[in-house]
Amino acid sequence: MRILLYSGKGGVGKTSVAAATGLHLAKLGYKTLVMSVDPAHSLADSFALKTTLFDARTADPFSVKPNLDVQEVNIQLEIKRHWRQVSTYLTSLLRTSGLGDVEAEEMAILPGMEELSAMMYVNQYRREKTYDVIVLDCAPTAESLRFVAMPTTLDWYMKHVFTVERNILKVIRPVANRLSPVELPSDSYFDNVLELFGRIQGIENVLEDPQVTSVRLVSNAERMVMRETQRAFVYFSLHGLTVDNIIVNRVLPPEADGFFKAWREAQTGIIDEMKAYFDPIPLRFAPLFSEEVMGLERLERLAEVLYSTGEDPALVTRAERPYSFGKNEVRLLLPFAIKGEIGLFKKGDELVVEIGTLRRHVGLPTSMVALQPARARLEDRTLVVEMRPLA
Ligand SMILES: Nc1ncnc2c1ncn2[C@@H]1O[C@H](COP(=O)(O)OP(=O)(O)OP(=O)(O)O)[C@@H](O)[C@H]1O
Ligand SMILES: [Mg+2]
Repeated sequence: MRILLYSGKGGVGKTSVAAATGLHLAKLGYKTLVMSVDPAHSLADSFALKTTLFDARTADPFSVKPNLDVQEVNIQLEIKRHWRQVSTYLTSLLRTSGLGDVEAEEMAILPGMEELSAMMYVNQYRREKTYDVIVLDCAPTAESLRFVAMPTTLDWYMKHVFTVERNILKVIRPVANRLSPVELPSDSYFDNVLELFGRIQGIENVLEDPQVTSVRLVSNAERMVMRETQRAFVYFSLHGLTVDNIIVNRVLPPEADGFFKAWREAQTGIIDEMKAYFDPIPLRFAPLFSEEVMGLERLERLAEVLYSTGEDPALVTRAERPYSFGKNEVRLLLPFAIKGEIGLFKKGDELVVEIGTLRRHVGLPTSMVALQPARARLEDRTLVVEMRPLA
């Protein structure tokens, strides 16, 4: 199975490109699901499905045409399906702070629940081999990153907090519940968390395997959008995901000259800069159309320009992993991270890499657990961290 993840700045055309790609894949004969991971879903609109404004039918795979389903994860429904005990606990907690029943229930949505729910489906479809390709239409960059960081965060929580928390609570609950008006989480809460954790087990290996998952960044030929695309590239690499394509959408066509002449010249300059930055990652282009890209026909036209030679978007074109472990060294592909911004330290059996404001815990292979990061150098777009035994 292949997972193609489309991310990028708000409004650049992620949903349109993901939908067009899904259509093209279905035509090539792949059993395809286009799934929205963005709480502000717009897939149904993009496909111009005959659904009402707040339709729940797309909360489960909804067939658009042969070989093509769409799904928009609906958090209210997912809570009923998978988060009952977590949600019940949060609701009771919020109620003690004076909120009414309905408000408490509405507030009892934790950041990340939506992303986690989507991830559970991806994992389920992968296990059950339901689809050949899953195209993920993500929320703007920051939230997409939360999506890909979720397994690591949760893994960390389970390893470092969950067991401790659960054990402490076992001891203090009887006393605490008598003293405090706030009820502590019950065993069923922890069982629920464990069950959810089980459902996403293994997903990080899938997301970090370039043979399965490829990230495609949708961008526009504008400086601000380019900068966000660069940041996104570093985010995803740091999280071990492989970016194999940049899609520059809404490029002004020559006919746009006249009022848009200066814009078009500026775009040409930005495109040259992008080529240099992202090399060897290929750029793909789509023009600004004279109308909104909505409905099957216009999506097909977008697919035609994106995959003009009948190309197969499911092919694996970059198999290099962002992380690799050599003899006493950790290598991380970092296209354009600046040296001064990189911080490294060891915490337990993990190497912590910091790039500016970003941080990632990298699990070290057992052969390296006893080593410490000694030196780092940037070598041909790769951060090489030398690991040495403690003197
Ligand atoms: N190449 C294009 N030419 C003309 N209109 C386009 C093009 N690409 C996208 N659009 C239109 O721009 C709008 C935003 O596109 P889209 O919803 O795909 O962006 P998005 O990145 O998914 O946005 P969001 O961040 O809100 O999810 C839509 O109305 C879409 O039809
Ligand atoms: Mg969108």
